[in-house]
Amino acid sequence: MSSTTKTIMITGGAGFIGSHVVRLFVRTYPHYHIVNLDALTYAGNLENLRDIESAPNYTFEKGDIMDEKAIHALFEKYQFDAVIHLAAESHVDRSILDPLAFVRTNVLGTASLLNVCRNNWKDHMEGKLFYHVSTDEVYGSLGEVGFFTEETPYDPRSPYSASKASSDHFVMAYFHTYHLPVVMSNCSNNYGSHHFPEKLIPLMINNIKNNQPLPVYGKGANVRDWLWVEDHARAIDTIFHKGKVGDKYNVGGFNEWKNMDIVHLLCRIMDKKLGRPEGESAKLITFVKDRPGHDLRYAIDATKLNRELGWKPSLQFEEGLEKTVDWYLQNEDWVRDVTSGNYQKYYDEQYVKR
Ligand code: NAD
Ligand code: DAU
Repeated sequence: MSSTTKTIMITGGAGFIGSHVVRLFVRTYPHYHIVNLDALTYAGNLENLRDIESAPNYTFEKGDIMDEKAIHALFEKYQFDAVIHLAAESHVDRSILDPLAFVRTNVLGTASLLNVCRNNWKDHMEGKLFYHVSTDEVYGSLGEVGFFTEETPYDPRSPYSASKASSDHFVMAYFHTYHLPVVMSNCSNNYGSHHFPEKLIPLMINNIKNNQPLPVYGKGANVRDWLWVEDHARAIDTIFHKGKVGDKYNVGGFNEWKNMDIVHLLCRIMDKKLGRPEGESAKLITFVKDRPGHDLRYAIDATKLNRELGWKPSLQFEEGLEKTVDWYLQNEDWVRDVTSGNYQKYYDEQYVKR
């Protein structure tokens, strides 16, 4: 997509990755108007965007991607040139507790959004773009070796990944059937600031700080490929502007870690920062019942994105993890706000009652 003036709807912009994408676009492209459409579920938080909320090229609209009528009205109001779609239910454990919520938002919500785009753009598709942000989990689970490439067949195994895989298929169906201009990326695990503390890294940071048990699923042998969230936001910027319509790009950190090793590393970092004796926080590690259908290993081959569009990750994991820990220690109010209320109910259901 060329970089002349345009109006872009970013869905899910109040969430973890979405807020980093909104911030990057608002700051980098003052001639773009960024409209953040978010339903503000438990995972959406306007505090994440406090620093840019009064920028002249930023607008927030509260709304649900499943509400076709309301989204259509926003298209009439803003005449969007592009949509960058991140809104989703994103947590695997929650998808095991309530799979249909994931079908509604991730499948029906994405299909509704595609439909609104098609209806509004059908007579002038030129210069329009629907960018779908997806996950490496659609590819399933790897053994000890090998990588996911863009050609790896889909093999989702959790309700979350099945719903994301389905949304990916709808995106490609709209491309082939209606010639809707689309592009898609499938990214590995992100980490960084504003990450909701239901996910491994922020949950462990929060529990270490509060001297709570550190719940490691199974034996802690599962492997994930971790990417600094700002590097993902940069990848989205790159693909949005330079990606080929109808194509997909894998995004990853070339940075595989076993869960156990991450938890130990976090314990070491936090012992130092909190002035605890070495080895103190690691005593909190507690092995708990494994996640049902727990995918063993994810590893992304992001060669295509590097070779064709020139993107590569910028930050070393250890450095990024230190920065992340610092952010959580300096933003206790943010953590307190998001872990009050319903968080405790979810935490009890997931970790205490099992
Ligand atoms: P998140 O859960 O932090 O944020 C999701 C956002 O979507 C929230 O602001 C929420 O309020 C909003 N939302 C949810 N349902 C909505 C609805 N029906 N209508 C409008 N808004 C709604 O998620 P995240 O971790 O930032 O992930 C963003 C996207 O990136 C998702 O599509 C996810 O599948 C994908 N992804 C995430 C990761 C990761 O490591 N977190 C990796 C690869 C891909
Ligand atoms: O791979 C990309 C995906 O990464 C995204 O699409 C998802 O939205 C995102 O949530 C993430 O999914 P994971 O399931 O890999 O992330 P999570 O942080 O939930 O878990 C990471 C690993 O840590 C996984 O092997 C499960 C394990 N784990 C997780 C939690 C929350 C634990 O051992 N204990 C925990 O308490």
